[in-house]
Amino acid sequence: MQKNKSIVLGITGGIAAYKAAELVRLLVKSNIDVQVVMTEAACQFITPVTMQALSGKPVLTGMWDASIPNGMPHIELSRAADAIVIAPASADFIAKLVHGRADDLLSTLCLARDCPLLVAPAMNKQMWENPATQRNIAQLNADGISIFGPDSGQQACGEIGLGRMLEATDLLYLIEAHFQPKLLKGKKILITAGATLEMIDPVRAITNLSSGKMGYAIAQAAYEMGAEVTLVSGASALKSPIGVNTISATSADTMYQAVMQNIARQDVFIGVAAVADYSPVNASPQKIKKSESSLTIELKPNKDILAQVASLPNAPFCVGFAAETENLLEHAEQKRLRKILPLMVANDANEAMGNDENSVTLLDKNGAHPLQRAPKIEIARLLLQHIVDML
Ligand code: C5P
Repeated sequence: MQKNKSIVLGITGGIAAYKAAELVRLLVKSNIDVQVVMTEAACQFITPVTMQALSGKPVLTGMWDASIPNGMPHIELSRAADAIVIAPASADFIAKLVHGRADDLLSTLCLARDCPLLVAPAMNKQMWENPATQRNIAQLNADGISIFGPDSGQQACGEIGLGRMLEATDLLYLIEAHFQPKLLKGKKILITAGATLEMIDPVRAITNLSSGKMGYAIAQAAYEMGAEVTLVSGASALKSPIGVNTISATSADTMYQAVMQNIARQDVFIGVAAVADYSPVNASPQKIKKSESSLTIELKPNKDILAQVASLPNAPFCVGFAAETENLLEHAEQKRLRKILPLMVANDANEAMGNDENSVTLLDKNGAHPLQRAPKIEIARLLLQHIVDML
């Protein structure tokens, strides 16, 4: 989806410049064309040769570069770009942006641009907290410039606090999100994801093999499309997607409570979680001791969260996921009708579980719409596109 997008990646002088190398690699892998522009100070931290090797293009560092055909790199480069990304953006460079300074190639092309500017600050905690920097950031926000981060944590200078540049994977995510059409702007979406854990005793549980990848990908894609996203997550090793309100709920019962507490005013509900159908009637408060005799655990059925949401008065647009091992479309369609859903996503349980890719079929009142095997994030975007069409 990102094909044909091209960005200018501006690197300014800060130790986080080393992360820009990884960012270039990820951008290129995502089919985004990258022209790297470095300030003189950036070249003290990382070499243009590294950036040239990773981007596959000569890096521009000076105002008077003779390789630009019309001799006006600031105009030429900003014309060609869909966005300018500054990562890392030093406190000094941010101050320059605020004042519209144009004393080197990067600041000049920012001033001459006709495209969005995305800025990832990176600096020492004190520099970030300084009222001057905070005033500057407020001004950039007011000028419609997107600020990504900074992150909090251990800094290269040994201090701990806000100021670290976001990781390359987070920046890639935010850049890709920037390019997505905002088809879900103003919409609220609640998603369940991951597996539930039904405790038998304090150290043992009944669960299933869901990784949470599909639900998390939908949350990320919905955020990219401008939705306000709440993710109620069962057990999953995944990191909460940026920009998404993630609520942890490990058992079917706590997941039900979390969903019901947040369902009011949602436009869309997507149940991706693999919710356990049963849970132990009496979880033991102490670890159950091993013995020679057999052990019987009595199970009670859990509430069907999706069916309950779908039957609410003023129910949101409800979407279910059916993971089946046989007669996929038939079983999925039966579930869609039984739970009274406008849309059901059918996927082969063996293929979907834990994989980064999935192939699914969307089932609605008009029939079956198969989607080709693709990374889960792509499947998520196509699913949301289908939901937008149905809404
Ligand atoms: O009936 P089945 O569990 O196969 O249906 C799967 C769909 O129902 C999924 O969307 C799942 O998230 C949802 N579900 C639920 N609560 C349950 C069981 C399933 O929300 N207790």
